[in-house]
Amino acid sequence: MSLRGTFLSLVVRVCGVLCVLTAPALAETAGLEYPMRRVTDMFKPLSRPAEMISEAAGVVLLICLGIFLVVTGLLVFIVIKFRRRAQDDGREPPQIYGSTNIELAWTVIPILITVVLALVTSRTIGEIQDMPMPANALKLRVVGHQWWWEIRYEDLGIVTANEVHIPVSDRDRAKATPTHIVLQSADVIHSFWVPQLAGKTDLVPNKTNETWLDPYETGVYFGNCAEYCGTQHANMLLRVIVHTPEGFAKWVASQKTPPPAPQAAEEIKGHGLFYANSCINCHTVDGTVAEGVFGPNLTKLMTRQTIGAGVAELNDKTLWAWVDDPQKMKTGCLMPDMQLLEPEVDAIVAYLKTLK
Ligand code: CUA
Repeated sequence: MSLRGTFLSLVVRVCGVLCVLTAPALAETAGLEYPMRRVTDMFKPLSRPAEMISEAAGVVLLICLGIFLVVTGLLVFIVIKFRRRAQDDGREPPQIYGSTNIELAWTVIPILITVVLALVTSRTIGEIQDMPMPANALKLRVVGHQWWWEIRYEDLGIVTANEVHIPVSDRDRAKATPTHIVLQSADVIHSFWVPQLAGKTDLVPNKTNETWLDPYETGVYFGNCAEYCGTQHANMLLRVIVHTPEGFAKWVASQKTPPPAPQAAEEIKGHGLFYANSCINCHTVDGTVAEGVFGPNLTKLMTRQTIGAGVAELNDKTLWAWVDDPQKMKTGCLMPDMQLLEPEVDAIVAYLKTLK
């Protein structure tokens, strides 16, 4: 190869690497225009129920701080005042047993403090649980699975996974548009927790719990399952994408638009393989014979930000790795290694990429 040819090929390679490094996430990914709110700090609430919990926690912490100061203050005072002195005779001090007054004091005062703490907490929990939801509140159902979240908008006819999309609300209660969430579980106990938006609420098998979100600002809020539920509990991650009202309407419209039929030869081959293997026993693609319900609905897979309930960002590389062997990315997850050949993985990935 001539010097010029070598130089050109080098330029092409460097550009290629730069392109990969700076490649934006897949164009169809929904919600990346909003700020990423990775804050998992419950003292920075951006939603009414989270704010109520933060206030109650502040009161509880103040009471605890008071106890801490009194106890350590007395301890330091006693240690200094009754320290060993040079003129001490070295004998044991007099031992005093039984003082009804002191014993009553250290029993009754802690009981009263505990009652106050319990009242503060249960009052807040009660207020959040009993908050009346407006009749027109967006309602959705979140079902916990080992180890992912099924998200169903029954009124809108949308089913998705791991990323909850909702419209922003308002600090002004009169203008607030909260989202009402019904929580259920398909297997074991999970817990829905997005620290900046709402406190933990468990998803319990055979029981229906409820929570609500009332976010003040748009953004991608990070949350996770907060109840140990098995091997991949730590990778049962959750995102709540809070849209502007227009952004939410756009997302709804996009979710309701069926994905285009596979066109390229590779996509058609992958489509065939998807239906010939057991993919369809667990996954649904709306409008097709794939109606499995054990795994996430894949109809609009490519609009999601992550794969494997947040185990990785969704891109060509992670999608390929997941289809090749999900056990490598998320050991113990319920999707088995399908023992596919590399060309089969290529084709299935090409088909999955049409799901947008
Ligand atoms: Cu689900 Cu922990």
